[in-house]
Amino acid sequence: MIPSTQQAGSLPAPDPDAAARSQRLVDAIAADCAAAGGWLSFDRFMERALYTPGLGYYSGANVKFGTSPRDGSDFVTAPELSPFFARTVARVVAPALAASATDEILEFGAGSGRLAGDLLAVLDRDAPGRCRRYTVVELSGELRERQRQTIARLAPEALSRVVWLDALPPRFDGVVLGNEVLDAMPVRLFARREGVWQERGIAVDAASGRLAWQDRAVPAADLPEQLQRVPGRHDYLTETHEAAGGFVRTVATMLGRGAALLFDYGFPAREYYHAQRDGGTLMCHYRHRSHDAPLFLPGLQDITAHVDFTFVAEAAVAAGASLYGYTSQARFLLDAGILDALAALDPSDAARYLPAANAVQKLLSEAEMGELFKVIAFGKGLPDGLPVFDRGDRSWMLDAQPDDAADDASDDGEPAPRSPGDAHAV
Ligand SMILES: C[S@@+](CC[C@H](N)C(=O)[O-])C[C@H]1O[C@@H](n2cnc3c(N)ncnc32)[C@H](O)[C@@H]1O
Repeated sequence: MIPSTQQAGSLPAPDPDAAARSQRLVDAIAADCAAAGGWLSFDRFMERALYTPGLGYYSGANVKFGTSPRDGSDFVTAPELSPFFARTVARVVAPALAASATDEILEFGAGSGRLAGDLLAVLDRDAPGRCRRYTVVELSGELRERQRQTIARLAPEALSRVVWLDALPPRFDGVVLGNEVLDAMPVRLFARREGVWQERGIAVDAASGRLAWQDRAVPAADLPEQLQRVPGRHDYLTETHEAAGGFVRTVATMLGRGAALLFDYGFPAREYYHAQRDGGTLMCHYRHRSHDAPLFLPGLQDITAHVDFTFVAEAAVAAGASLYGYTSQARFLLDAGILDALAALDPSDAARYLPAANAVQKLLSEAEMGELFKVIAFGKGLPDGLPVFDRGDRSWMLDAQPDDAADDASDDGEPAPRSPGDAHAV
C-alpha cells in the first residue's frame, strides 16, 4: 500500500448499505466489549474489524484491492501494481524449489489472486513442471472465490493444481510466500505516560454510545518484551505484534525443507522503536487515502501496522529456521533481475512499455514501495540460503540494539513518524 495521509473527517462517506453493515459490526464489537467487562484490547478490536465473518473488512464484500478509488478499492499492493512483481519473484522461487528438491508453493493471504495467477503463468512458461501444487491459505471465503476467478483468467491451465486450505498442514516442503500479510495481523497498543505503560483498548463511550479509546493499567510483569526496546521515558504510543510472532513461529515450525519469503512494510526494531517514532505506526486505508483513526467505520477500511522485522527474524530462528536474508524490496527486485524481466518488452511499443516501466518504477522508487517495503526470508535445508541476498543482505540491521539517538539517520526513506493523537471517540 502506498500511503497518502488524510484526516478521517474529510474522507468520502460510505453508501447507506455499507454504513449499515459497519453499524452492525460496531454493535457486535460493543456487545463483545460489554461481555468482556467493558474493555477490549486493541488486537481483539482489530481482529473483529478485519475478520468478523460477513462484516469484517477482509471477510466482507468490500472491493479492497485495486488501483484507484474509482474502482471502489482502498489500496494497491505490489502484485496488483505490476505483473513484473510476480515475474521477478518467480526468478527466486524457481531456483529455491530446485535447490530444495521440492515442487510446492504455499501462499498466505492471496488477496485478489494476482500474485498466484501471474506466478503460475510465468513458472509454467519458464520452468514447466517446477510447481506441481500451489496452496493458498486464506481466511476470507469471499476472497477465495475472487482468487479462483483471477487464476482462471491468468493461468487457466494451472487452476487444477491450486488448492485452498483453512488451516496449515502440519508439515510443508517447498516455498512459502506472503505479501502484506504480516501488516494485516492484529496488534496490541501500548501508551507510556509519565514513564508508566498502559494498554490502550476500546470501550463504549457512555454519553455518545460510540466506541472510544480507553487505557488500562497492566502489571509490569505482564508487559510484552518488545516494549523493553523503547528508549527513554518520554510519552510514547506503539504496537506489539503477538499475532505476527505466533504466525511466523508456526510457519517456521511447519517448514520441513525450503524457504519462506515475506514482503511487507516495516523496520528493524531499532528503527521501529526509535525515540522519535512516539506515535506508533497504526494506519488505516480507505479509498486510496491513509489516516490514523482505526475506530472510523469499522469493517469498511483496512487497519494495518508496520512490521517489526527483528521480532519476525527472532520468531523464525527460535522455531528452528535459519535466516536467509533481509533487504529492501527495491534491492531484492533489482538483484532478482526485474530490469531483465522488463527488457523482455519492446521499448518501441510505447503503449505497453511505458505503463509497465512506470509501474516497475513505483515498485523500486525510494519515495514509494522501494525502501519502506522489505523482504525477509528464512527456511531450512538450503545450505547456500537464497543467492538473491548475496549482494544486498541487510540482516545485520536486525540486531535489536535500541537506538535512542534522536538524530540517528535512518536509511529507510521513511516519512516523519506520525501520531495517532489523543484518545477520542469517533
Ligand atoms: C493487505 S492484504 C494482502 C493481499 C495480497 N497478498 C496482496 O498482496 O494483494 C492481507 C491479506 O492477508 C490475509 N491474512 C491475514 N492474516 C492471515 C493469516 N493468519 N493467514 C492467512 N491469511 C491472512 C487477509 O485475509 C488478506 O487477504
